[in-house]
Amino acid sequence: MALAKKYKKAPIVIAGDVAAALQESEVFSEVTAVPPGFLNCKVKEHFVTQYLSEMRSSAKYGLKEPERKKKIVIDYGGPNVAKPLHVGHLRSAIIGESVKRIARYMGHEVIGDIHLGDWGLQMGLIITELKERKPDLIYFEEGYEGEYPKEAPFTISELEEIYPTASAKSKEDAAYKEKAMEATFKLQSGVRGYRALWNHIIAVSVADLKKNYANLHVEFDLWKGESDVHDIIPEMVQYMKDGGYARESEGALVVDVKEESDTKEIPPCMILKSDGASLYNTTDLATIKERMEKIHPDQIIYVVDKRQELYFEQVFRCARKTKLVDEHVDLEFLGFGTMNGKDGKPFKTREGGVMRLETLIHDINETMYQKIMENHEADEMEARQTAKIVGLSAIKYGDLSNQASKDYVFDIDRFTSFEGDTGPYILYTIVRIKSILNKYKQQGGSLDNPELQDSTSDVQKALTLELVKFGSVIESAYEDIAPHKICAYIYDMANAFNRFYHETKILTTEDEREKAGYIALLQLTKEIFEVCIDLLAFEAPEKM
Ligand code: ARG
Repeated sequence: MALAKKYKKAPIVIAGDVAAALQESEVFSEVTAVPPGFLNCKVKEHFVTQYLSEMRSSAKYGLKEPERKKKIVIDYGGPNVAKPLHVGHLRSAIIGESVKRIARYMGHEVIGDIHLGDWGLQMGLIITELKERKPDLIYFEEGYEGEYPKEAPFTISELEEIYPTASAKSKEDAAYKEKAMEATFKLQSGVRGYRALWNHIIAVSVADLKKNYANLHVEFDLWKGESDVHDIIPEMVQYMKDGGYARESEGALVVDVKEESDTKEIPPCMILKSDGASLYNTTDLATIKERMEKIHPDQIIYVVDKRQELYFEQVFRCARKTKLVDEHVDLEFLGFGTMNGKDGKPFKTREGGVMRLETLIHDINETMYQKIMENHEADEMEARQTAKIVGLSAIKYGDLSNQASKDYVFDIDRFTSFEGDTGPYILYTIVRIKSILNKYKQQGGSLDNPELQDSTSDVQKALTLELVKFGSVIESAYEDIAPHKICAYIYDMANAFNRFYHETKILTTEDEREKAGYIALLQLTKEIFEVCIDLLAFEAPEKM
């Protein structure tokens, strides 16, 4: 239709010419022109089969290596030390891990950095509360020059209880808050005993975080934190002053970041408070500086709650204006929405408190376990193990299947269902394929490279046409930083497979060649599923 003007012909005439030219095509079995100017093309079965064979024998199922390998830092997770992980941190971990795996699979060099919140007032609060409770600890003895104990003077459970207590106290008691600010200052200026205590807090907390993230199949390459850039802040501040970027404003140091084209007010980026203390901003900017110097990334992606969008806009503008980043470096903010309960409000416990991640995972696994036991008699140990694997898919798929920026409702019943657009449905489909393959093998069939055959039915062809989309789906999930595209893809693929399964006699087919062809198709389908769920960072059990 777009060509009508150029050729001065009616669209249907042009379509007819194209259809005529494609009559001998190797790709299409049928091309017809349809008014007002459409072309309907039917792909040849054999062409698809050949394409699938090539896909099967190539390293990444036909996905090409990038023309230029990029270096990408992904800043995700972002938990705060000594505070229990709650569901708010879950989204960053789940989305970030998937984004990381997708970019890595594409062939880029990707570095995941947890960017621990380990430097702010919360550390001062904890130290203050510890001092109230155990004033005799050696860490508080001024002038002490000996070594400090290797063992921390608290456990993780104590630590997790200390922070909320201290935080509540500081809200009611101004003097207490004053003490906490002083402790923060002492810590940041390097008082030995405070640093030693802080090291214990980090060690105890990080050990616990590692365990929690491992359960979620989330792995970081770097465990850096806000504190790591503390020492380079003075030189960065000096650089900003020398370059004429920063100015004083009511005692504080700021960089203006508003632009003429702004439609809303973008406040200046504050670098130092009037008392000289650094801020969340300052550590983020210094972290950019450090990443540029040590890693030289082409892109940095931040996976953070979308309520921090304006904040990151300021930080990015400031980094560009002060030339902490080169022009070609892409700073990307992937803001995610809130995980809500069924009432549409941010997800809470039944009592209305903050839901701990461990509790949430426990609840999902329990529901999953009940469902597995309802479905069939199973060995308890095995069912528990399976429930864990399937439970993780329920949580992750429930999250990742939504566009990241949208809020979504965390609905345990829906997420754990074996039917519909859910993780367990996807896994159920994969397990079904595994079980057919196993049976085939038990019946004496060979799984060693069976030959793909041309489709003999619409349902089979529909499945093959899903499989060939693999490369373009992964590419577009990468380009748009959008794991939900992979979820939508495997959901379509699961539906296509199950339709094929219900309408095809796979193992009872008499013709051995045809049967082997089905098996080859099943194998490839299983492999594509497995790559995709690995990119979403969950896995399938053997049985369920
Ligand atoms: N710790 C922060 C929080 O809990 C998130 C960190 C996000 N990453 C960053 N580079 N600022 O809000």
